[in-house]
Order: sequence, then C-alpha cells, then structure tokens
Amino acid sequence: MTDHDRVVLVTGAAGGLGAAVARRLAEPGTALVLCDLSGPGLTAVARSLDVPVLTRVVDVGDAEQVDAAVTAAVAEFGGLHVMVNNAGVIAPNARIHNLTAADWDLAVRVNLMGVVHGMTSAIRVMRPAGGGSVINTASVAGLTAWAYAAPYGATKAAVVHLTKIAAVEYAKDRIRVNCVCPGTFESGMSAKIPREAMAAMEARHPLGFGVPDDVAGAFAYLAGEESRWTTGAAIVVDGGYAAP
Ligand SMILES: NC(=O)c1ccc[n+]([C@@H]2O[C@H](COP(=O)([O-])OP(=O)(O)OC[C@H]3O[C@@H](n4cnc5c(N)ncnc54)[C@H](O)[C@@H]3O)[C@@H](O)[C@H]2O)c1
Repeated sequence: MTDHDRVVLVTGAAGGLGAAVARRLAEPGTALVLCDLSGPGLTAVARSLDVPVLTRVVDVGDAEQVDAAVTAAVAEFGGLHVMVNNAGVIAPNARIHNLTAADWDLAVRVNLMGVVHGMTSAIRVMRPAGGGSVINTASVAGLTAWAYAAPYGATKAAVVHLTKIAAVEYAKDRIRVNCVCPGTFESGMSAKIPREAMAAMEARHPLGFGVPDDVAGAFAYLAGEESRWTTGAAIVVDGGYAAP
C-alpha cells in the first residue's frame, strides 16, 4: 500500500466526460482508480495519464463490484478522497407510452443505482477517514423538462435530489456531496441521440454544444480545497441551456 495526497475514483472513465475528468484531476500527488464496463477503453485512458492508475472493469449497477473497486482503491493507494459517480446511459429517444420496462430498468440501474452504490461504498470509507468529496454527474435534463427521454431525465433528477439529501446527512462527517449538471456536449452518449433531436437541442444552447473538457473544470473545483464550503450544490455547466 502506498499513500498519496489524493486518491480519486472515477466511474464511466472510458467515456467522453469520465476520461476528461480523469485527465483534469491527474495532477502530481494524485492516484486514480478508473472504472468502466469497457476494459480496452480504460486501458487507452490510463495510457494517456502520467500518475499512478488502477483500472477496474466494473458494472456500477452491481453493488458488490462497486464496493470491490473502492476496496481496491484503499488497498492499492491507501484511501479514497474523491469519488466521481459519472457512469450513465441515455434512454431511447421516445415518448413515455412507447418506452418499455427494460428502458426504465436500465436507466434506473445505471444512472440512479450506480450513483447510490458509489456513494454508499465511498461514504463507508470516507467517514472513518475524516471526510472526502463525492461528485455525481447529473444533467440539465434532471433540472428541466427534456422531452423524449423520460427515464434519463427522471433518473438524473433523482441524482440531484439524492445529492442534496446526502450533503445534509454527511456534512457532520466532513463529506461534501455535490453534482454537476452538464448541458449537451460531444461524447459517445450524445452520438446516440438522433440527428434531428440534436439539431433542436443545439438551438437551445446559446453557446452551442460543448466538449468534455468544457465540463471537467467543475469537477476539479468540487474535488479540490477551493470548494471546501460547497455541499449539496447542483452546478450547471451547460452553455446557457437552462438560462431562459
Ligand atoms: N454527453 C452529454 O451531452 C451529457 C450531458 C449531460 C450529462 N451527461 C452525463 O455525463 C456522464 C458521462 O457521459 P458521456 O457523455 O461521457 O457518455 P459516454 O457514453 O462517452 O460515457 C459513459 C461511460 O459510462 C460507461 N458505462 C455505461 N454503463 C455502465 C455501467 N453499468 N457500469 C460502468 N460503466 C458504465 C460507458 O461504458 C461509457 O464509457 C453520464 O452520466 C451522462 O449522463 C452527458
């Protein structure tokens, strides 16, 4: 076991935003644990980083797998200071009456329970260690009515509310819990949205669509000392989408 100034675990780390967050947080003194369903994707991200990295193939919908990754972070790097619950899936582009139970199950399992599992395991390690920072990836779709993606928006709204409840429950343990609510940026997820829907959505972003690096700074803020008095926040980084 080696002790590091800061140990950060990121889920969905093979994806657009997760990789950008990993790169942004990969400062000297930081060790990273990168988790995703995609082993090759994780390897590619890890190769681009110049800090100690542990990669784990993890399904965030499975509590035991998430817990094993947190345990591995502690065993390998000596603790866990920042937990980024970022893995997510988009629902099919459809109105509610055309969605299936499976569409809802997947969104709830990954977008909501994935965050629940990550928070639960991280908090169990952070409490006895004297604190930490939990950062959840929500979405402006959890704050505004984004039609044709109800399971996505509903689960992201749940993440925002869960973040606030956890912030209140764990402030006395010095665990800050915040979420980031991005607007639409280019990634594997946005590539799955139909072209017409993307055109309509782009018109609603006054600054246009973003890229993952436009969002990663909010995670750096929430992971660091500058945000020591910030908890329960839903930080909107959306090119102006939610402003009107
Ligand atoms: N792209 C956008 O416009 C946008 C906007 C707002 C919020 N978000 C959120 O940002 C986060 C990252 O998404 P992205 O845009 O980088 O998309 P992405 O598809 O590039 O990345 C998502 C990653 O999550 C992983 N993943 C999916 N299911 C998983 C599971 N069960 N266990 C572990 N990993 C799993 C995927 O393999 C993928 O690498 C998501 O939570 C998403 O909802 C994205």
